[in-house]
Amino acid sequence: MPETSDAVGSPILLSERLRLRPVTIDDTLAVQSYRGRDDVVRYLTHEPLSLDATRDRLRVGVEHWRRYPADWFNANFAAELLEDATDSSGGRVIGDLRAWNLELDASGPATESPDVFWIGYAFHPDMQGNGYAREAAARMVRWLFEERSARELRAISWAPNTASIALLEKLGFRIFLELPAEAEDHHKKLPAVHLRLMHSDWAAAQAAIRQSTEHTPSKH
Ligand SMILES: CC(C)(COP(=O)(O)OP(=O)(O)OC[C@H]1O[C@@H](n2cnc3c(N)ncnc32)[C@H](O)[C@@H]1OP(=O)(O)O)[C@@H](O)C(=O)NCCC(=O)NCCS
Repeated sequence: MPETSDAVGSPILLSERLRLRPVTIDDTLAVQSYRGRDDVVRYLTHEPLSLDATRDRLRVGVEHWRRYPADWFNANFAAELLEDATDSSGGRVIGDLRAWNLELDASGPATESPDVFWIGYAFHPDMQGNGYAREAAARMVRWLFEERSARELRAISWAPNTASIALLEKLGFRIFLELPAEAEDHHKKLPAVHLRLMHSDWAAAQAAIRQSTEHTPSKH
């Protein structure tokens, strides 16, 4: 899949139906339309965001992109629908994703090594059930492994968040740690699962997919 970059060298990732690009302050309305909803934040660490809180969150994302590229980073992508895009404007923002080995407040590393990253995402409920979140996450995972030399990717889901766990498992993530609600320091007090995907397992799965595609007889 192609990767291009904008003027400051930030990545723009294309997939079949989506364009992932660095968040901007102009995404405030779109992002608040889902991160402001109770049903979207139920399994997130933040409460429903107001417009101001969404703007502040995006401002932090933009600030991180100013420091990119770097070995330690916190990358917040907006996911746009390609079908809506024109030459002069981007497509509708239907979700956002984050990949990070640096804490959101930039206070220090979020992982023990720069080749280990956390990932997270949220999509508008009207757009869920179409495979968009999976397509976007798969593209970001590819970027981390191929462009950012990631060795291991991790994600945390609260156990009842079956949609997120299913998405991650379809990408090849596997649960490596399950924590009871009492161990959770967040006030939501839900049991949590930690999942991970190693580069070696991802690369082997990609090779198997390539091989099966090559051996599938053409229709012509
Ligand atoms: C987690 C979240 C992103 C999952 O969204 P989603 O739309 O269910 O996820 P996917 O993109 O994987 O879509 C999968 C569904 O699309 C369907 N689908 C339709 N067309 C598809 C296509 N072309 N390709 C793949 N799947 C497709 C799948 O069958 C699947 O439906 P199913 O669950 O009924 O089997 C979403 O629930 C969300 O934003 N939640 C709130 C925020 C959150 O909890 N984030 C995670 C924190 S850990």
